Amino acid sequence: MRFNNWSKSHSFPLPMRYPRVFVKYSTYTKKPLSLQAVVIIVLTIAIHALFGYYLTRIYLKSAHPNNQPVNDILDISVLWLAPFLSGSGYGAEALSFIQGLHKHITNLTIYHFGDIVEEEYLSSLSEETEKLLKQLWAPNETLPSYFIKRQYEDDQVARKLDTRRRMFPDGTLIREPILRSLHDVVIVQSIPRGWEPYLFETAKYRVGRTVFETDRLPDEWAQHCNNEVDEVWVPTEFNVKTFAGSGVKSHMLHVLPQTVDTNTFSHPSITPRPRPPECLDSDFIFLSVFRWGGRKGTEFLLEAFLREFSPEDSACLVILTATHKMRTNATYYHGLIHQFANDLGITSAIRPRIAVLEPSISNQDMPGLYAMANAFVLVSRGEGWGRPYTEAMMMNVPVIATNWSAHTEFITPETGYLVKVDKLDLFPSDDEEMMNYWGHLLARPSICHLRQVMRFVKENPQDAKRKAINAKQLISTRFNQNAVTNTILNHLKRIKAKLTTENVEHMLATRAKQIIAQGAI
Ligand SMILES: *[C@@H]1O[C@H](CO)[C@@H](O)[C@H](O)[C@H]1NC(C)=O
Ligand SMILES: *[C@@H]1O[C@H](CO)[C@@H](O)[C@H](O)[C@H]1NC(C)=O
Ligand SMILES: *[C@@H]1O[C@H](CO)[C@@H](O)[C@H](O)[C@H]1NC(C)=O
Ligand SMILES: *[C@@H]1O[C@H](CO)[C@@H](O)[C@H](O)[C@H]1NC(C)=O
Repeated sequence: MRFNNWSKSHSFPLPMRYPRVFVKYSTYTKKPLSLQAVVIIVLTIAIHALFGYYLTRIYLKSAHPNNQPVNDILDISVLWLAPFLSGSGYGAEALSFIQGLHKHITNLTIYHFGDIVEEEYLSSLSEETEKLLKQLWAPNETLPSYFIKRQYEDDQVARKLDTRRRMFPDGTLIREPILRSLHDVVIVQSIPRGWEPYLFETAKYRVGRTVFETDRLPDEWAQHCNNEVDEVWVPTEFNVKTFAGSGVKSHMLHVLPQTVDTNTFSHPSITPRPRPPECLDSDFIFLSVFRWGGRKGTEFLLEAFLREFSPEDSACLVILTATHKMRTNATYYHGLIHQFANDLGITSAIRPRIAVLEPSISNQDMPGLYAMANAFVLVSRGEGWGRPYTEAMMMNVPVIATNWSAHTEFITPETGYLVKVDKLDLFPSDDEEMMNYWGHLLARPSICHLRQVMRFVKENPQDAKRKAINAKQLISTRFNQNAVTNTILNHLKRIKAKLTTENVEHMLATRAKQIIAQGAI
């Protein structure tokens, strides 16, 4: 692949109603209708029929705005920078966005930024995806010079300063001869600490896409949002609130949800994965999918399940988990769970059935896994979106989730079961991996309420089924690819309207002054 040789260099840290038309035909007259009158009547009827047809179309369109195929092609040039080749969350999300967008704007190019290139991920790409990435891959001469220079310059700071100086030697933008024109919009999808002026060298307008899971932002994130980009796209209103609460100017914040792969997760030919040997055929299966560790509320889930159910209960908890940057296996997690149960004083003899799957399950096997489950449960302490919830919901599996953070935008009392929050409390600060959360508040789900909810869902299949049907309906209409592509297009249209020559000149000059003031030169 064209981008293979980038591996080493890319370890960047980082309704209108149909109106009733009353037509008053000619008042009663004994005289036969004149030719003119006939023509007028026929014309009137024809015009009203046309009018009605047109209004009906508008009505239908506005009643289902999300399901309209996207037809228009927007004339705009966009460079999308994201960890496309890493298989990370940001990368996967970026890929899903460009898959929908590329057919609907005139000039979309992409480039890898923000994480290391994962060879394993590259080899797992479908032919179709690989073709799309290559097709959209930005030609060298249109990229910020940073991406070309970094091939031979290693010191990161020097790189930044150098590109900055070449960008703004005297307060104006000086372009490399190879840089022929500016992109209308450069979108950078990464944590805000990665947003630096050199990335936006070719941008008229700068967009940052990011997300965060707690009640506030890590240090410096707000400054990066306010200073380095013109607007920030976050997945839900939850982040609009937390970002604004941490000092990001609220007019800069716009919502762009994630897409859900509605085809993969509702395909009629999905066969349920066989139950793990630990579970009995008659068991009600609670499925949970998460990264092991504090934020996902693992200990709350385990304690609630262990205390609420017994081996006689015909319930089985099936867990698919993995640990960040660590190769693990099911035996390892069984060990941790065994220890956890012992610490609670719940001995093997009175322990309900828990199965842990090997972490190596492929993406293709995920729909089958959800199809096996009777309910999905994850009492996360805080989410920026909550992809497994949306996937379970697409698969008609009733979901149980904590009543706090981003996923409450789609998990409501109509579409799922929300578990009470005891309080918001500090994230334990002993975990180096989680440094970003230090000093932040996250939800503490009520174990007591979770026990009741799990019991209720198991014993009330009709209620659970009704919610699952609502859930699928909501997810498949609001977050399908067309709906999300439309949202991106609307944002781009709004931005395009701002890009008058005068505005652009003003924005570039302001940016240059700001960078000089920051002392980068
Ligand atoms: C793009 O630039 C890099 C670094 O200068 C170079 O190695 C590569 O061959 C260029 N690719 C193309 C298609 O020109
Ligand atoms: C896309 O936009 C960039 C930046 O404006 C420009 O350099 C490039 O030539 C455009 N590509 C096409 C195919 O128009
Ligand atoms: C599972 O992981 C543990 C610890 O990570 C390791 O000691 C053990 O050998 C692994 N077992 C298998 C079957 O891979
Ligand atoms: C969930 O939170 C909302 C808003 O804080 C509250 O109105 C609602 O009663 C809560 N529901 C449950 C089940 O705790």
